[in-house]
Amino acid sequence: MRHLIDPTDLTKEELNEIIDLALDIIANREKYSEVCKGKKLATLFYEPSTRTRLSFTAAMMELGGNVLGFADAKSSSVSKGETVADTVQVISCFADIIAMRHHEEGAALVAAMNSRIPVINAGDGSHSHPTQTLTDLLTIKREIGRFDNITIGFCGDLKFGRTVHSLIKALSRYEGVKVVLIAPEQLRLPDYMKHEVCDLNGIDYKEVETMEEVMPELDVLYMTRVQKERFFDEDEFERVKDSFILDPEKLKTARPHMRILHPLPRVNEITVEVDSDPRAAYFRQVENGKFVRMALMLRLLEWAKADNSKPDLVPADAIRGQHVCSNRRCISNIENGVEAIFRPSAEKDGAYRCLYCESRPK
Ligand code: NCD
Repeated sequence: MRHLIDPTDLTKEELNEIIDLALDIIANREKYSEVCKGKKLATLFYEPSTRTRLSFTAAMMELGGNVLGFADAKSSSVSKGETVADTVQVISCFADIIAMRHHEEGAALVAAMNSRIPVINAGDGSHSHPTQTLTDLLTIKREIGRFDNITIGFCGDLKFGRTVHSLIKALSRYEGVKVVLIAPEQLRLPDYMKHEVCDLNGIDYKEVETMEEVMPELDVLYMTRVQKERFFDEDEFERVKDSFILDPEKLKTARPHMRILHPLPRVNEITVEVDSDPRAAYFRQVENGKFVRMALMLRLLEWAKADNSKPDLVPADAIRGQHVCSNRRCISNIENGVEAIFRPSAEKDGAYRCLYCESRPK
């Protein structure tokens, strides 16, 4: 049985296959209208969501299946203190597939470790958001036509923006991708992303201070919201919240084929005047999310039918119980019964990274 916890759980071939399946679904909607008849998706959303939860729901409905779940953890047994591990074991009795969003980093992995049905990570803290990545890839495919040899600028909150982390990981599978990181000092990409993902995959990246200086180079400008809910210090948020605002003036030097993506919700980082620019692709991107989630669920259910054995999600060279994770938001520091597990870091520097959130030990 396969889960989707991190974009790197999918090979490049599988990523391409899911994108192609989504394109076929777009072209032949009727053909897929009953393929999940009798199947149930459980949406377990411990954190606010509009697009992701509703697009999973619409996706399963369009495949002919049903949906159950909760949109607010306060209305579930979580408010009585139930752990992710227990909740998921219970849900495995009622549904065929799970989409879960949680504020703790690594929560989706803990869910997968305890589940008898496929788990899809719909966002775990500031760590990963692989189905937004599939959405972004389908949008790039439809708007630009390719993944290889593109220059993509990521602007805004690159520290806490989980969609940025996941998309860079997925793009590391393709050739000739150039990444431009546009962020204030306080919101730069986390170190595991720079070292394990960019450096080790040979991603050509640079860090700049303004979007104006790189605008003419870009094929894609990926804007993000400053993630207010992840800040421990409100003054820090106030200092950086309006760091970048995209308006028609700044777009003057952008190429005609450049596309503006944003996972949404937008706060004020893109002015509404930009919406009518044909290069603004963010509302088209939302619709792509539904189609790509249809494709993903279809594939995961097929894979589970072919092999429903529980995968071992802990690498053989992992170590248990010897370290404590340095990340306060990591599930191993928050939930009872989640054992700290570390894997050797890919940098091969003799150090370790947390299996749940990729941070260093304390
Ligand atoms: C993003 C998320 O939840 O990480 N939204 C989404 O899923 N479309 C981005 C955000 O909240 O800023």
